[in-house]
Amino acid sequence: MKQLNKISKQTVAFLFLTYLGSMQAFSQSKPTWKSPTSDELMLWFVGGMTLLVSVLVLFTAMYVLYAVQYMILDKQGKAKTESVWGSMWKSLDKGLTNAIPLEREKDILLDHNYDGIRELDNHMPPWWVYGFYFTIVFAVFYMLIYHVWGTFPLQANEYEEEEKQAQIEIAAYQKTMANSVDETNVKQVKDKASLAQAKSLYDTNCKSCHGVAGEGGMGPNLTDAYWLHGGDVKSIFKTIKYGVQAKGMVPWEKKFSSGDIQSLASYILSMQGTNPPNAKAPQGDKAKK
Ligand code: HEC
Repeated sequence: MKQLNKISKQTVAFLFLTYLGSMQAFSQSKPTWKSPTSDELMLWFVGGMTLLVSVLVLFTAMYVLYAVQYMILDKQGKAKTESVWGSMWKSLDKGLTNAIPLEREKDILLDHNYDGIRELDNHMPPWWVYGFYFTIVFAVFYMLIYHVWGTFPLQANEYEEEEKQAQIEIAAYQKTMANSVDETNVKQVKDKASLAQAKSLYDTNCKSCHGVAGEGGMGPNLTDAYWLHGGDVKSIFKTIKYGVQAKGMVPWEKKFSSGDIQSLASYILSMQGTNPPNAKAPQGDKAKK
């Protein structure tokens, strides 16, 4: 029976390690965490079930052996427990905690006697030992769940996620801030996204009077260095925003956000010196460089 106990313990340990080893194959050192795919979930499920079934089979085998042993002892009237379960639990408990039961305490009393205080040489108390086993099991699952399978994100991944979220919020905030620009604080923007956005606004709203490439038409040429109302970004912003109604330039204040007007003004500046064909003759004053 002792031998059997040892073998079964070794088998459980072996099965578990094999299981761990096979799981290792699915672990990738993920730089960023992503939720497991359904394929991965399936694999873990199959793996977990295999482990569970192996443990059950082993357990059943042990039960049968204990039952046979118990029947023999019972027949001889030597059974120490009331049931097969009892005898199994007793040997498991003994194997796990190695504690000497209270009844046999006097066997492990040491010789010292200090004014009636005596020393007992028992093992750690069973509740403590079981707590220790619990921490081992917990550690194994913790490692599997966080480090091998990546079921849940690690702290570093959580941090990255939050960082990403914060970047999105910052971008959103900056967008609302962009709409608070006016002619006193506007600055030329050069990022591709804003300019592309401004180009499409220009093509639908401004092209008819200023030409496809800004060469001018009914409105003045926007690509040369001559300006009627000033060629710096603040002046251009102002012209677009308030228009020059008496001369046929529309005020766009109501139609566009100030962020859009900023992009449009920047887009117009980006057309400077492009010399498009059929350019309209310069109007106004040359901008000071
Ligand atoms: C209905 C025709 C028309 C449309 C549409 C129009 N403009 Fe104009 N724009 C004009 C006219 C006319 C002027 C010249 C005003 C003047 O003579 O003072 C002008 C002037 C300007 C100026 C000043 C040029 C300078 O020399 O100082 C800018 C900048 C400008 N427009 C940008 C735009 C933008 C951007 C749009 C589209 C959002 C637009 N315009 C749409 C007719 C138009």
